[in-house]
Amino acid sequence: MICIGIESTAHTLGLGVVESREKRIKVLVNRTWKYPSITEGYVPFKLAEHHADNAGALATELKNTGLKPDLVSYSQGPGIGHSLHVGFIIAKTISNTFDVPLVPVNHAIAHIEIGKSECRTKNPLIVYVSGGNTQIIIQKDKYEVVGETMDMGLGNMLDQLGRKLNLDPPDAVGVLKEAEKTKDFTNLPYTVKGMNFSFTGLLTAALKSREKKDKICFSAQETAFSMLVEACERALCHYHSKEVLLVGGNARNRRLREMLSIMSASHGARFCAPSDEYCGDNAAMIALTGLVSWKGVEFKNAGPRQKMRVDDSKIMKNKYYLAK
Ligand SMILES: [Fe+2]
Repeated sequence: MICIGIESTAHTLGLGVVESREKRIKVLVNRTWKYPSITEGYVPFKLAEHHADNAGALATELKNTGLKPDLVSYSQGPGIGHSLHVGFIIAKTISNTFDVPLVPVNHAIAHIEIGKSECRTKNPLIVYVSGGNTQIIIQKDKYEVVGETMDMGLGNMLDQLGRKLNLDPPDAVGVLKEAEKTKDFTNLPYTVKGMNFSFTGLLTAALKSREKKDKICFSAQETAFSMLVEACERALCHYHSKEVLLVGGNARNRRLREMLSIMSASHGARFCAPSDEYCGDNAAMIALTGLVSWKGVEFKNAGPRQKMRVDDSKIMKNKYYLAK
């Protein structure tokens, strides 16, 4: 079977095409059009304009593949309403054109599923870090959030720091590049409550700091990541997990990977994270999740939902792997 995926939850419009071959899934197309990081942050209607402007290029890309899909899936939520609606309309148009089912996909679950399928994990402790989400998740009959941010996501905190410090680029990547210039550390608020954590106090203090930019960035990353790793370690010991899977856009951060990897190894657990192209928002993960979840999905009233959570949807029982 061939499934098309459309991603549009926030700054990225994506087209993914995957093909299933028994228990293996091959990614045939994974193309993204990303709204650039800007110092004033993201404005919802501008994101929608960007996605609409690139809808034609997406259609051309799809046409050029010459593939005929059996399913079309799209990111139903969570996300920014304006952006979600553009992706929904694109997906609905493709599904009507080919007369195939339209499958709604929980974006957060898609991040996890592509990580699990590429890393071939069994039942990992999941650490989901992106702009709007920072959660520690276990898998039972469905995904359960056992720890999470009490205010803003880790990615949003780093993006805001990057913007306010006028870094290049003005986001979390800018913070990482700046942080790599030094090992000078200054104390910033460290807030962990059981398996939950908070980033707003850290951000406020970092923005008020008169230290050099590289020292602020290094300290903000080290403090925030240490908080997350402490909460993960508590969850790892409590749930006796043997694997730790890091997913989401900020999973590309090599320092965060290193810290979680050291912590996991100290408890005899395996640490893994997907390839960079499957960490950030991408449509291959939407196509993959649509393909493995479409049976039994309720298609009626399946328009965008801004407030979805990872614990809102059923998990995939099928075993499948990403073909290398
Ligand atoms: Fe995402």
